[in-house]
Amino acid sequence: MSSSSLPSLRWGLVGTGQISSWFVADLALVRPNAKAKHIIAAIGSSSKEKGEAFVKRWIPQLSPGPKVYAGYDAVYHASDVDIVYIGTPHGFHKQHCLYAIEAGKHVLCEKAFALNAREAKEVFAAAQKKGVFVMEAMWTRFFPLVHQLHRVVHEEKAIGDVHRVFADLSLDQNIASLDADSRLKNPALGAGTLLDICIYSITWGLLMLDADIATEAERPDIKAVQTLSGPIDVASTVLLFYPSTGRHAICTSTAMCKHSGEIDVFARIEGTLGYITVEGVSASCPTAFTVYDKAGGSARRFTVPKPGFGLYWEADAVAQDIAAGRMESAVMPRVETVRVLEMLDEARRQGGAQFPIDD
Ligand SMILES: NC(=O)c1ccc[n+]([C@@H]2O[C@H](COP(=O)([O-])OP(=O)(O)OC[C@H]3O[C@@H](n4cnc5c(N)ncnc54)[C@H](OP(=O)(O)O)[C@@H]3O)[C@@H](O)[C@H]2O)c1
Repeated sequence: MSSSSLPSLRWGLVGTGQISSWFVADLALVRPNAKAKHIIAAIGSSSKEKGEAFVKRWIPQLSPGPKVYAGYDAVYHASDVDIVYIGTPHGFHKQHCLYAIEAGKHVLCEKAFALNAREAKEVFAAAQKKGVFVMEAMWTRFFPLVHQLHRVVHEEKAIGDVHRVFADLSLDQNIASLDADSRLKNPALGAGTLLDICIYSITWGLLMLDADIATEAERPDIKAVQTLSGPIDVASTVLLFYPSTGRHAICTSTAMCKHSGEIDVFARIEGTLGYITVEGVSASCPTAFTVYDKAGGSARRFTVPKPGFGLYWEADAVAQDIAAGRMESAVMPRVETVRVLEMLDEARRQGGAQFPIDD
């Protein structure tokens, strides 16, 4: 496909933190196999100076560069923006989505999409009413390596029937040392490992136990424990249990340690004929998987080259969906966002982590 026939999308970003920096860098990356053309039209930040410094650091090569605004309002209302990317803390997602939707913009909102399932449903209802595209930016689901793994597990059935999954995301975040208003510490912002990183471990459990999220009706039972620091969790273990088949996923997170080394095995998928290990810098960003037979032999290793961070795969998919007139993604549909948030709600109910909006 020539670059002129690719779908094209004009992005406006709100928030210029870590993930927004990776996202713009990836949007601006020159890629031979790009499936869409991305234009970074607008950046909204708490101050113009911060927004300008962000542009200078992450996308200095763009000419013309994006318009930079103090605050987010101008981004929602900019006539040269098709879609708003929300890279703010969890506690703001609902409101920022609603502002963008009200202005008639499509939305790609970072994970966790909202603080709870109730908030997510409110946003999706508003999007439905307005007729705009909205998706949770669960970028891992869009990695070609993940699609390949899904095929190997569910179509090729390379390890037979999957009966158990382990998945972990661990970081050493030294929560005690952070300012009280850090998004990793402030419960009003949705702090805690559950929404921040356990959501990835749970995603791996679901990806490996559900052959098809569009039709898979079974809702796993949740058993959860959390280690709390005040109202937030600094470690969570969430067990997904599928009563009809007895399958388990043991999904864990902690803010208290990081595995050694750059590349690590973060997931193990066990089946009746063998097992698979998945590795990467973290569960959000897989780089390879290896398929073993039951005795641990006959290893087949799969990997997909990944320039940049790997956020362009979700951005390309969003551009293709919008160009085709679709209002939601088949890879990360709205119903899946709500299903996951309902699991997170239940994990907090059992584990004890609380947000002020729970009151
Ligand atoms: N960090 C990651 O590796 C990663 C990966 C995937 C997804 N995510 C998700 O992306 C979202 C943002 O995470 P992040 O790590 O990028 O956070 P971050 O570095 O703290 O950035 C968040 C940005 O949101 C804006 N903001 C507005 N009000 C804020 C407030 N009261 N406190 C803090 N920031 C505020 C700020 O941008 P301005 O000052 O420019 O307005 C800030 O830079 C979260 O939903 C997270 O789960 C993060």
